[in-house]
Parts: sequence; C-alpha cells; structure tokens
Amino acid sequence: MSLKDAATRVRENAHAPYSGFKVGAALRAASGAIYVGCNVENIAYPEGTCAEAGAIAAMVAAGETELTEVHVIADSPMPVTPCGGCRQKLAEFGVGTVRVTMGTTAGQEQVMTLAELLPGAFGAAHMGDR
Ligand code: THU
Repeated sequence: MSLKDAATRVRENAHAPYSGFKVGAALRAASGAIYVGCNVENIAYPEGTCAEAGAIAAMVAAGETELTEVHVIADSPMPVTPCGGCRQKLAEFGVGTVRVTMGTTAGQEQVMTLAELLPGAFGAAHMGDR
C-alpha cells in the first residue's frame, strides 16, 4: 500500500468530535514498513494528540527509530502542515532531507522537507558533549 493510501485510510479512524477535523498520517520507516496514526481528541482539549504523534508512537513501539518519508492528509482547503510540536517530533526521527507530503482529500499536494518545515531545529549538537 502507498503512504498516501495508508494515510487516507487511517484518517477515517480519527477521533475528532470537537474540531470536526480528521487528520491521517503515515510514515515509512527505515525497514520499509509503514506506520500510521490519526488525531485523537479529548474532551479536555489540550490532551488531544495529532496524527503525526500517533504514527511516530506506532513506529517506536514497533522497534524502529528512523523515518524516511511522511504523508499527512486532511479534508482542508489547502494542504495542512504539521503543527510546530509535530515538526520537532518528526525531526527527532528523520534527517532534514526527509520529504513530507501534505495532501488534501480533494487531491491537492505540497511537498516540503523536514529541514524546510523546521529550519534551525534544536538538535543533539546543541547539547554539546554531555
Ligand atoms: N492536527 C493533526 O492531527 N495534525 C496536523 O498536522 C494539524 C492538526 C489535528 C489536531 C486537532 O485534533 C485537529 O487537527 C485540529 O487542530
């Protein structure tokens, strides 16, 4: 299955009764396996989680820590970019050249790299020898 199909399919499972905005995310990991996630909202609004975070959690739970490609999809007038927190979460597991495809259910697509999405990312180098 393609990343796009995986993201499109998992989006249907999103729990988004408060925003009404379902998001699906699919990651390809170094092994080639695909991991998916959807947004999971909560009546205590700040406790909701993004689709990207769910996909990352699934990847790590399966024992993988490197992502090579990302696809995010939503029913939006324009491609939805990952939120700031998710950009940092994605950068934890992917190099700057990783392609992130942002799609709409209507078929519009935009591709950016992780480095473009999070320029000047805080990373291990900033921590020095520790
Ligand atoms: N959301 C995601 O899951 N991923 C994104 O990239 C953007 C926003 C979710 C969070 C919330 O459940 C809903 O979309 C509206 O912000």
